[in-house]
Amino acid sequence: MASGVTISGVGAYAPPGILANEDLEKLVDTSDEWIVQRTGMRRRHIAGPDEATSDIALPAALAAMEAAGCEAKDVQCVIVATATPDYLFPATACIVAARLGIPGAAAFDVSIGCSGFVYAVTTAAALIRSGVYSRILVIGAETLSKLVDYTDRATCVLFGDGAGAVVLERSDEDCFLGSELGAEGSDPSVLYLPGGGSRLPFNRAANGHMNGHVPSPAPSDTNGALSEERLGYIQMQGQAVFKFAVQQMAGSVQAALAKAGLKPSDVDFVVPHQANKRIVDATMKMLQLPLEKCISNIDEYGNTSAASIPLALADAVRAGQVKKGNVVVFVAFGAGLSWGAVVWRWLGAPVGTPAGSASQAAQA
Ligand code: ACO
Repeated sequence: MASGVTISGVGAYAPPGILANEDLEKLVDTSDEWIVQRTGMRRRHIAGPDEATSDIALPAALAAMEAAGCEAKDVQCVIVATATPDYLFPATACIVAARLGIPGAAAFDVSIGCSGFVYAVTTAAALIRSGVYSRILVIGAETLSKLVDYTDRATCVLFGDGAGAVVLERSDEDCFLGSELGAEGSDPSVLYLPGGGSRLPFNRAANGHMNGHVPSPAPSDTNGALSEERLGYIQMQGQAVFKFAVQQMAGSVQAALAKAGLKPSDVDFVVPHQANKRIVDATMKMLQLPLEKCISNIDEYGNTSAASIPLALADAVRAGQVKKGNVVVFVAFGAGLSWGAVVWRWLGAPVGTPAGSASQAAQA
């Protein structure tokens, strides 16, 4: 029996709603020039008010399955990497699996912020190489716009919504060449959502139990005492995250390449988490790789967290950039703080066409 793993199909979907820099200029004190210079972002796709993460995960998943030439019954496990699940529980993967018509499949979410897709792909590859499953659907999907405070210019310019997916399956050739995952969780407040978990449940606020009680922020939350209004929005110490990312991204790639017995000059393409063009450019410089080897679509989508790598991968495959035989590295960092890189040999998987909308996909 083959004991290798390959990526056999890619899919992506972004909701049609657009939030351009010019729109943000009307919401907060910012400018197109500042946003482009500091982040490389021009537009983001935004889910509709009734669209949840599973709604945009579904068309991406269907596109990846179409590309892989597989049907729902062929998939034994669904993994959704997301920081914006439909609910705290059940896992969004259970909802997606049911809507795909595979309710009996194993299904779970990976919650590790923007590093989620790299963690999920590494987990899926291990499950296939060890013989537990032969075909797994891995989705990165986010509706970050639901958690963004559109009065906070430090965060609202960064995030967008979208979904990307890959099908991993058993193959004679083992295309998973190496991986490096890590986390350092001593200070959650560097990048976190304060409310809604067991430390600050929303029901306290909803039941009025928070009246007169100001919850303590996590250790180094420098934004001061947490007001009820801030609990439901992303809080981030931008400069601290920036410094961490610049140090960590290149190191992750180097560590994963070392495990694969490769060096940076062997890499054909880096598909980085699309957090900030300056972070990505600095990473490529530290790896001594030219920017032409970097896959980037940050101008169109902004930071879509766990969805950003498969969204960028789909664009690159569709454009014919990534070719059969290429060494491709996915690398991410994110809330945790966390990081990860995974090295693949690309066997020429195609990208599928997403259905026009989640509801169309559900009816298909
Ligand atoms: N428009 C105009 N001015 C702004 C804006 C804005 N949108 N945001 C901040 N500024 C101002 C600040 O107030 C500050 O003004 P001051 O000098 O008068 O005090 C000035 O611009 C510089 O602010 P900095 O925070 O130093 O700007 P910086 O160059 O660090 O860029 C940014 C900010 C883009 C947020 C950057 O720090 C960054 O990208 N950090 C990493 C963010 C990230 O990658 N997050 C990942 C999330 S991953 C996940 O798991 C969800």
